[in-house]
Amino acid sequence: MTHHTSDDKNHALTDDRVKADERARLTTDQGTRVSDTDNSLRAGERGPTLMDDFHMREKITHFDHERIPERVVHARGAGAYGKFQVTSPLTEFTTAEFLTDPKVETSVFVRFSTVAGSRGSADTVRDVRGFAVKFYTRQGNFDLVGNNMPVFFIQDGIKFPDFVHAVKPEPNNEIPQASSAHDTLWDFVGLQPETTHMMMWMMSDRALPRSYRMMQGFGVHTFRLVNAEGKSTFVKFHWIPRLGTHSLVWDETQKIAGMDPDFNRRDLWESIESGDFPEWDLGVQLVPEVDEHAFDFDLLDPTKIIPEEIVPVRLVGRLVLDRNPDNFFAETEQVAFHLGNLVPGVDVTDDPLLQARLFSYLDTQLIRLGGPNFPQLPVNRPLAEVRNHQRDGYHQSALHQGQAAYHPNSLSGGCPAIAEQGAYVHYPEHVAGPKIRKRAESFADHYSQATLFWNSMSAWEKEHIVAAFRFELGKVTHLHVRERVVANLNNVDHDLAVEVAQGVGVAPPEEKTLNHGRSSPALSQSRQPQSPDT
Ligand code: HEM
Repeated sequence: MTHHTSDDKNHALTDDRVKADERARLTTDQGTRVSDTDNSLRAGERGPTLMDDFHMREKITHFDHERIPERVVHARGAGAYGKFQVTSPLTEFTTAEFLTDPKVETSVFVRFSTVAGSRGSADTVRDVRGFAVKFYTRQGNFDLVGNNMPVFFIQDGIKFPDFVHAVKPEPNNEIPQASSAHDTLWDFVGLQPETTHMMMWMMSDRALPRSYRMMQGFGVHTFRLVNAEGKSTFVKFHWIPRLGTHSLVWDETQKIAGMDPDFNRRDLWESIESGDFPEWDLGVQLVPEVDEHAFDFDLLDPTKIIPEEIVPVRLVGRLVLDRNPDNFFAETEQVAFHLGNLVPGVDVTDDPLLQARLFSYLDTQLIRLGGPNFPQLPVNRPLAEVRNHQRDGYHQSALHQGQAAYHPNSLSGGCPAIAEQGAYVHYPEHVAGPKIRKRAESFADHYSQATLFWNSMSAWEKEHIVAAFRFELGKVTHLHVRERVVANLNNVDHDLAVEVAQGVGVAPPEEKTLNHGRSSPALSQSRQPQSPDT
């Protein structure tokens, strides 16, 4: 009930007993004791409420302002604190201390989420799940903002508003709340074939995780690690759950959504409360820079995986979640992840989806969290010391000292030191080219990996995928939209397209000769970083 946060020492009362007694009393936000919080101040027992009633006005005003905007995507989530420790140091590849020093235990906050539904939607819907990790490293905060699927719907972030407008409830009636069964999603999907690979994952059981504890996570994009010599290595990040990867089946998800819409959130909370701490291994796929063009897809294309047969996943660290938040709003709701929260030794690539994300997260958080000072909130505050000339703004809670807030200055004890040593230095990638709005030819193949995914499925997994397409696409009211999606699936696998067509009332397409222009990769094996177990 009380919210004593600071400065209590300045108000120390001499008698401890009196102090304890004082603290048990209800007060206003100004600390004034309240005599009655059930009856407003009136002119007579049956008369109007008086403006003098500062307690009533403050109480209701605060309540009136309790809500902040929910996240524009990933609004529904659950979070927990934990620890990360590197087990197989990546010293050869990066200077990031949390990836190189096995003695260092790095605190983390992780938020799992669904994407399309609003804050109060059910957990067990067919959707992608967010898997966002904030590492509070001694070199600053590093955020790995990933999903439970290794690819994404679109190749360029400029399409994200279009995609999200198609996936979210429709604007005229706000239906459906959290479901893939609607016209706009499938209209977009049919018109935008780059979504094909991700839609295969979406229609698979991966979109129905049984538990957050049993879910893989992926950084999705290709990132860079940069070592002490300034040499860069491409990296894909993976989280692999120690409990294995498990899904619900469709009928279970439907029943659970009715009986316990908090199913995944509750499972995470209860497992941590009972000391059954969820764990993941951190895996990396490493690709030397010289192999950037050695694949039959573009490493910068977020609709592609790097097949693990080509580049094995090395397990290099362990994540444990061992503490639930104290307050959902303060921590899980106000946590702010951002791809641009990088530490020395980790850098980004020119993946055009990644590049747009670098803009979007900070931008949205400025409105969601009310101005530029949200990094001061306890859940966002780095453990590393913060010292700069950023000042003022809404919700400023730091009490900056001194006369001078600019660089350089020779007052107030001078400026914080600046030096490249130990600082974040962007990888000096060479860039050149005309300013154009054009996608590289190397992004053009939208089907090979969708086919690879389909072919890797067992018979019963294929059945589930077909059933999902039939259910979700079958709800689409426009026949031409169904036909277009089926025609698109024909580029993935003819049998799949025929089976879906039969279930959604459209004519089966003609068989095609599939040639997605696949060729075998020409990796420089000698340079290929080896997994410890190969
Ligand atoms: C939120 C993942 C693409 C914009 C999130 C969250 C995750 C995530 C996990 C939830 C963060 C949290 O728990 O607080 C991804 C992944 C993507 C992707 C893996 C593709 C690989 C994009 C793109 C954009 C975008 C392309 C925009 C151009 C946002 C926004 C939020 C968000 C605005 C809400 C952030 C907030 O309010 O704190 N995303 N996202 N995302 N994402 Fe993405």
